[in-house]
Amino acid sequence: MDRSASCELFGLTAGWQRSNRGVVADGGSVHADDDRILCHCLRVTYGEVSAAIAAHGCRTVRGVMKKTMAGGGCTACHRRIRQLLAEAERRQAAERSVVEPATS
Ligand code: FES
Repeated sequence: MDRSASCELFGLTAGWQRSNRGVVADGGSVHADDDRILCHCLRVTYGEVSAAIAAHGCRTVRGVMKKTMAGGGCTACHRRIRQLLAEAERRQAAERSVVEPATS
C-alpha cells in the first residue's frame, strides 16, 4: 500500500501529507538518514520522525503524528515513537547539564 492509499484509509488528505513531508524534509537530526520504516501503516521512517522531533521540538506522539503522520493508523508504532521522544529528551537533558553547570 502506498502512502496516499494509507492516507485515504485513515482519512488524511493528500495535501496534509505533502505539507508534512515537506516540513520534515527540512529538519536535521542524528537519525535523519535512517530510512528504516518506523510506522508501517503510513510508511514513515525513523529518520523522518527523528527529524520532526529535532526540527519542531515534538514532545508527544500526537505532536509527531501532526508533523509526520506516523502513528495515525493502527498505533502499533507508538511505543517506537515514544522511545525516540525519550531518547531526544535524554540527549537534550545531557546537553543542558553540560551547558549549565550545577550551582551550589
Ligand atoms: S504502524 Fe504506525 S500507525 Fe500502524
